[in-house]
Amino acid sequence: MTQTDEHDGERRDFLYFATGAAGAVATGAAVWPLVNQMNPSADVKALASIRVNVADIQPGTQVTVLWQGKPVFIRRRTEDEITAARADDADVDNLQDPIDRNENKPGLPAIDANRSLDENGEWLVMLGVCTHLGCVPLGDGAGDFGGWFCPCHGSHYDTAGRIRRGPANQNLLVPIAAFDGDELVIGKED
Ligand code: FES
Repeated sequence: MTQTDEHDGERRDFLYFATGAAGAVATGAAVWPLVNQMNPSADVKALASIRVNVADIQPGTQVTVLWQGKPVFIRRRTEDEITAARADDADVDNLQDPIDRNENKPGLPAIDANRSLDENGEWLVMLGVCTHLGCVPLGDGAGDFGGWFCPCHGSHYDTAGRIRRGPANQNLLVPIAAFDGDELVIGKED
């Protein structure tokens, strides 16, 4: 696996092309059509599942992989990010989208524990596709709620990937995903 660091400022996002074991590279593109121009091959797009070794991902860091032709954010959150997300759980009914949008346990309230992948809430795995018109949101604390910000039309997501302000009206989608040791399996394996 190779990777290229993001050079502008402090961002620590990485984009991996998923080729089964995950391959190379591009810096954190903000707009999905730019990523799409990189033309992942048809066989990459068709992969039902991918495995990503997450052992080296440090807290406060996000990597982005391509799965079925779409970016998937894998974020290992800090304690502060988890605390911020859970502080707003009590008001979940008044959030812009009160549904968790988690394909692993769909239809539950959008409290942080229903969106994060592990019991401690350290791992957040979401499609990096804005629920407004499909741009790729900026991460690493971007936006007014410390999570992600979509620069296309100004949607703000919090540290749980929940939509908090802007034209998007749904939380970032959490795909089918599970840990297998140090590997994260995204999608359903045969
Ligand atoms: S596509 Fe993200 S705000 Fe419009």
